[in-house]
Amino acid sequence: GTVAVLMGGAAAEREISLKSGKAVLEALRRCGIDAEGFDVGRDMIAPLLERRFDRVFNIIHGRGGEDGVLQGALACLGVPCTGSGVLASALSMDKLRTKLCWKGAGLPTPPWLRLDSPADLERCREALGFPVIVKPAEEGSSIGMSRAATAEELAQAWERASGYGCAVFAERWIDGIEYTGGMLKGVPLPLIRLETPHAFYDFDAKYRAETTRYLCPCGLDAGREAELQALVLRACQIVGVSGWGRVDLLVDRSGQPWLIEVNTVPGMTDHSLVPMAAKAAGIDFQELVWHILETSVA
Ligand code: DAL
Ligand code: MG
Repeated sequence: GTVAVLMGGAAAEREISLKSGKAVLEALRRCGIDAEGFDVGRDMIAPLLERRFDRVFNIIHGRGGEDGVLQGALACLGVPCTGSGVLASALSMDKLRTKLCWKGAGLPTPPWLRLDSPADLERCREALGFPVIVKPAEEGSSIGMSRAATAEELAQAWERASGYGCAVFAERWIDGIEYTGGMLKGVPLPLIRLETPHAFYDFDAKYRAETTRYLCPCGLDAGREAELQALVLRACQIVGVSGWGRVDLLVDRSGQPWLIEVNTVPGMTDHSLVPMAAKAAGIDFQELVWHILETSVA
């Protein structure tokens, strides 16, 4: 049967998704799979109403494609789709509710404050101190995020994060090392350590800068890495992430890990992290794509 590769979407990460999608489509074809790619906009299921596809490989990042909406529509149509289902997708898209779940389960995530009004900005210093990182709750690839070290910067950061049609929050700045942990079919991939001269791993550091360094193996001793990988799996489990995903975390100077967020449709571009981690585990891109395709269940 034919696999529909859905990419693009209407969210801010559209261009990233198109790159991921192109790479996935080529890899599926190299595997000998009959696959067709669709650059979908807002109407994500249009191609599926015209023709019967056996499966969907979903590589739309962000709202619409990664947030349960597509997953629900496909469930109604009875077309199996790669990755997480409705609940985990919806929860993971919302960083605030993800943090609430983790906190409720006793997992470490940096303290935060939702910023709904100027009064919340006043409260921020007292609640979290400075610096903080300000984020739209439902964006990806660091879009709309900035670091704020003063009340003035906080006001600017809030402004910047407010244009995305979702809640905004400030999170305590964790001074430490950033890692990311991929999960494939319930098994953790090797961790990657990210190093950037930027204030944080922002959009430019993610996709454009030549100065970003990716360390895999990540430099931790095996026991410590296994501990963090167990935390990654637990973080996925709590929000119900299945099939594949990627959890971002920071480890502060005291060695305390902090969960930042989970992505249910992680990037698959040539700068992306899951392919890098898979490769370190001896899984090449083509094989990775094959494994992800196998996660498509009705
Ligand atoms: N949100 C981007 C695509 C990622 O997590 O890789
Ligand atoms: Mg993300």
